[in-house]
Amino acid sequence: MHLERNADLRTLNTFGVAARAPWLGRIRTVDDLRALVFAPELEGQPRLVLGGGSNILFTQDPQGVVLLNELPGIAVVHQDEEHVWVRSGAGVVWHELVLHTVAQGWGGLENLSLIPGKVGAAPMQNIGAYGVEIKDSFDHLEALRVEDGEVQVFRRSDCRFGYRESFFKREGRERFVILNVTFKLKKRPEVHTTYGAIQDVLAQRNITAPTIKDVSEAVIQIRRSKLPDPAVLGNAGSFFKNPVVPQAVVDKIKAEHPKVVSYPAGPGEVKLAAGWLIEQAGWKGFREGPCGVHKDQALVLVNHGGATGSNIFDLSTHILESVKQRFGVELEREVNII
Ligand code: FAD
Ligand code: EPU
Repeated sequence: MHLERNADLRTLNTFGVAARAPWLGRIRTVDDLRALVFAPELEGQPRLVLGGGSNILFTQDPQGVVLLNELPGIAVVHQDEEHVWVRSGAGVVWHELVLHTVAQGWGGLENLSLIPGKVGAAPMQNIGAYGVEIKDSFDHLEALRVEDGEVQVFRRSDCRFGYRESFFKREGRERFVILNVTFKLKKRPEVHTTYGAIQDVLAQRNITAPTIKDVSEAVIQIRRSKLPDPAVLGNAGSFFKNPVVPQAVVDKIKAEHPKVVSYPAGPGEVKLAAGWLIEQAGWKGFREGPCGVHKDQALVLVNHGGATGSNIFDLSTHILESVKQRFGVELEREVNII
C-alpha cells in the first residue's frame, strides 16, 4: 500500500481547480482498498472515492484520504443465445468499455459513448445521454462495505436508480465503494436513434440501417460539436439537472414564453431544459474573470484558467437565484460539491 501525502488534485478533476488531499491512495486491487480502509494511520478519517474527477467540484480541500479508483479489467462472465454479461472493473475508463462492447457488436451502451469518467461512478449518477441510462443495461454491481470490508452485491432494484440518482448518491454515499459493474448486453442489438440529433447525423452520413457502431459514432460527433473538451476548457458537463416540475408550472411559463423547451416526465410532470432557462436568463457565454458559462451550452460552467472551486460555486449560486427569480423554478446542482 502506497500513500501519498499532501497530494495535488488539480489534474485529477476535469474542472482543473486547485485542491490538495492530506492523503491519497491508489486502488488497483480489492486488497489495496481494504488495506487503505483499515490503515491505522487513517482510522476515523473521512474518505472520498475519486474516479475520473469529471463530476466533482472542489470548493475546499477534501479531508482525510482520497481513494483513487484504478481497479482494472473487462471480462465476459456469462452468455446465452441473446445476451452477454460483461463485468468491468470500477477503474476502467467508461468510454473504453463502451468502445470495447461496440467493437464486439454487443448492444446497450452505444448511446453513452464519450461520457468522461470511470465505470465505478456511472451507477452513482445513473449516467445518461441520448435517450439511454446505464440502468437500462445494468445487471448488478459489487461494492465494498466500508464498515466491515465485506463485498455486497447490488441488483438493479437495490440501486434505486432515478434521473441522475441512485442509492449510492444518497444513503450509500461514503458507506460503499463500487468495485465492479456487470452489464447485460444484447447480441442482437436494437438501436435507439430517436433522441436528439442522432437521426440528422445518420441522414447526413446516408446511413439508413444504422448499426450500434454508427450510433456510437453519431453520438461522438454530436457531443464533440456541443460540449467542451475538459482537456482544453475545464468543466464537469451539465452543472445542474434538468428540473422536473408540475405541468401547471410549465403552463405558466409557456403563457409568457411559448418556446420553452420541455419533455413529458410522467403523469402530470414535465422536465424543463435547464440550458434553455439559463440561456433565457441571460447567462449563456457569460464570463466573470476566470470562470463562466459555456458559449454553446448554458448548462455547462467552465474554468477559463485559474478559477477556484469557490468562484465556480458562487457563479452557480447567482445562476440559481436568477433562474428562480425569472421563472420561479429551483435548479438543483448535478455536480458533487466538496
Ligand atoms: P468522479 O467525478 O470521480 O466522482 C463522482 C462521484 O462519484 C463522487 O461523489 C465520487 O466520490 C463518487 N464515486 C466515484 N467512483 C466511485 C466508486 N467506485 N464507488 C463509490 N463512489 C464513487 N454525465 C452524464 O450522465 N451524461 C453525460 O452526457 C455527461 N456528459 C459529460 C460531459 C463532459 C464534458 C463532462 C466533463 C462530464 C459529463 N458527465 C456526463 C458527467 C460525468 O462524466 C459522469 O457523472 C461520470 O460518471 C463521472 O465519472 P467520474 O469517474 O469522473 O466520477
Ligand atoms: N438549450 C438551450 N440553450 C442552451 C442549452 C440547451 O436552449 O444553452 C435547449 C435546447 O433547446 C436543446 C435542449 O435545451 O434542444 C436540450 O439540450 P441538450 O440536447 O444539449 O441536452 P441537455 O438537456 O442540456 C442533457 C444531459 C446531458 C446529456 C444530454 C444529451 C442533464 C443534466 N444533461 O443535457 O448530460 O449529454 O442531455 O442526452 O440531464 C451531464 O449530465 O453532464 C450531461 C452532459
